[in-house]
Amino acid sequence: MKQITIAIDGFSSTGKSTVAKQLAKHLGYIYVDSGAMYRAVTWFAMQNQFIGASYFHIQDLIDHLDQISINFKFNPELGFAEVYLNGNNIEKDIRTMEVSSFVSPVAEISEVRKLLVKQQQKMGESKGIVMDGRDIGTVVFPDAELKLFMTASAETRANRRFQELISRGDEVNFEQVLHNVQERDFIDSNRKDSPLVKANDAIEIDNSNLSLEEQFNKILQLVENKQ
Ligand code: C5P
Repeated sequence: MKQITIAIDGFSSTGKSTVAKQLAKHLGYIYVDSGAMYRAVTWFAMQNQFIGASYFHIQDLIDHLDQISINFKFNPELGFAEVYLNGNNIEKDIRTMEVSSFVSPVAEISEVRKLLVKQQQKMGESKGIVMDGRDIGTVVFPDAELKLFMTASAETRANRRFQELISRGDEVNFEQVLHNVQERDFIDSNRKDSPLVKANDAIEIDNSNLSLEEQFNKILQLVENKQ
C-alpha cells in the first residue's frame, strides 16, 4: 500500500494526538507530536531564565537556539515516542500548566518556527508519517495526501485537558485550564507567522460527540481512500 503523509491540525486538546497515535500504530507509521517540540523550546527557555512570570527575553532565546537539540525516542512500554532535549527525557516536564502558559508566546517567534519546521519536514521526507500540530497541513506538509482539522467545543476540550492533568496528580482547577485553552487558541489563531487556520483542502472533524472508536473508524476510512 502507498505510504502517505497525514497532517492533523486543530485547536488545543481536540484529541489530535490520541487519534494520531492510533493511526500511526495501526498503519506502522511514525508519529510526531510537533507541539512537543514547541514545548521543548519553551522548557529550554524556562530553564535558562529567558522566560518567566514577569519577563521574556526573546532575543536571548533566539541567540541560544543553536544550543537546542530535540529528539524523539520510542518507548515500547508507553507505545509512543517520548521527547528529549539535549539528551534528557523531558516528556513529563513539558506537560505542566506552567509550560502550557508560556508555549504560545514562544511559538509566535519566527526564528523558533523556522528551526522546528525544517526539522519536521526532514522527519517526513520518506512519508509514512502522522504529524499533529497547528500548521502541519498549511506550512509543514502543504502537499500532504490527507489533511484533517479537528474541532470540539472549548468546554469539551478543557474538560479533557483537566482530566488528563488531574490523573497525573497535578493540582489545577477547571477554570484555570479552560482559560489556558482559550488563551492559547487565541494567540495561535491570531499570530502573524503561520496562524492556526484550516487548510482549504483539510477535512473538518468535530469530535465533541464522537467516541474514540467512532472517530478512529471514520478517519481510517479517509486514510484508506487515499492509499
Ligand atoms: O499540541 P500542543 O497543545 O501540545 O501544542 C502546544 C503549543 O505549541 C500550541 O498551543 C501552539 O502554541 C504551539 N504549536 C504551534 N505549531 C505547531 C504545534 C504546536 O505553534 N505545529
